[in-house]
Amino acid sequence: MSTPPKGKLALPELLAMKQRGEKIVMVTAYDAPGARFAEDAGVEIILVGDTAAMVVLGYEGTTVPVTMDEMLFLTRTVARSARHPIVVGDMPFGSFQVSDEKALENAIRFVKEAGADAIKLEGAGPMVSRVKTIVDAGIAVMGHVGLTPQSATKLGGFKTQGKTAEAAAELVDGALALEDAGAFAVVLEAVPAPVAAEITRRLTVPTIGIGAGRDTDGQVLVYHDLLGLTEGHLPRFVKRYASLSREIRDALEHYAEEVRDGTFPGEEHTYAMAEEELALFRSSISPSATRANDQAKEPTMSASKTLSPAPESEPPLRKTSSP
Ligand code: KIV
Repeated sequence: MSTPPKGKLALPELLAMKQRGEKIVMVTAYDAPGARFAEDAGVEIILVGDTAAMVVLGYEGTTVPVTMDEMLFLTRTVARSARHPIVVGDMPFGSFQVSDEKALENAIRFVKEAGADAIKLEGAGPMVSRVKTIVDAGIAVMGHVGLTPQSATKLGGFKTQGKTAEAAAELVDGALALEDAGAFAVVLEAVPAPVAAEITRRLTVPTIGIGAGRDTDGQVLVYHDLLGLTEGHLPRFVKRYASLSREIRDALEHYAEEVRDGTFPGEEHTYAMAEEELALFRSSISPSATRANDQAKEPTMSASKTLSPAPESEPPLRKTSSP
């Protein structure tokens, strides 16, 4: 691929962090504010996860329905706003399972159309050749083993993986195969901590854990989960660092109450007008005129023609989100 943009964390730095024993911080984000907050918090990697299906798009308990176009749209908004962190676009179900060629085509779309720095795809086994094909084409790939939500039905639900000796050994083999195929990092989701520790010890590239204990090289959490925007049941591995859904609900209820009782908008949220302009305005319109009346009979002089333009010093009505 081309040279990364100025200020962008270089991918090999993740490997160097592993070697120095420094933890890598990854978080998901799905929009521009989320990307900015994550960048300002100094995270190394932002994953535009297909968890978007559940936390943004309203699908319940599944990541399967999210489409390529939706993922590209979300990734584009994040990539536009995140200058330093590595932005990883998550390949949705159906975008890479069919063939190596199809997987490569869609990986290219993430990089070319959405500005992703890298892509992630779920699974090992048959997916290893997808990873190799995409890496050989010059695109950085993050692997993902353990609980792979796109195959949750096949795995028997959102369950911890690698709990038997045989299943744990399979996870180790899968992670090693992904590394051999060229993955620059591997996500380990919902696996027993000792298994994740063993994989982390055996892999040269960093492991990023979610529900995989503290010995992985980095951690990832879903933005909405860690900020307390997700309501209802949360997996055991989530730690809430805020309760934003409570704050948002309180704020919206307060707003609705103030609109209804007339407290909002107050004087401070209201635009005034010079007295003489107001007088002119009032004298220029018929005292009893209503909109319906105005439409029925041709006005002698329309209000818009008599009103002077706003003085040049007047601030624009809306330049930023809060004027
Ligand atoms: O889609 C996602 O958010 C993920 C993380 C949970 C690793 O894959």
